[in-house]
Amino acid sequence: MELYKFLKFMTWKKIAEKGEMQNGKGLEFKIEGKKITIFNKDGYYALDALCVHQDGSIATGKLDGDIVECPLHSWHYNIKTGKLLDYLKDVKLQTYKVEEKKDGIYIDI
Ligand code: FES
Repeated sequence: MELYKFLKFMTWKKIAEKGEMQNGKGLEFKIEGKKITIFNKDGYYALDALCVHQDGSIATGKLDGDIVECPLHSWHYNIKTGKLLDYLKDVKLQTYKVEEKKDGIYIDI
């Protein structure tokens, strides 16, 4: 019964074809009304796309390891945890699970 409840709330949505996302880059998607950035950095990582500072999109931010720099004013986020690394304590962008399946890239939303 518990497994059934867990599975019921998981919704995998296909967001890209395999090979469509370049390694070391991010892409922004609009999924169910939310702007979400997915990074391909030796694996796929998804988090809310809008920076908490002034809503800049982090999708085109420069990646250095697991850290993305917002292109507008250079605030930094960990793409695996969503954690903001500058100025404000305990601020995180929401993260989402991403999986590469046989027929494409899927996000759990
Ligand atoms: S909008 Fe991201 S640092 Fe200002």
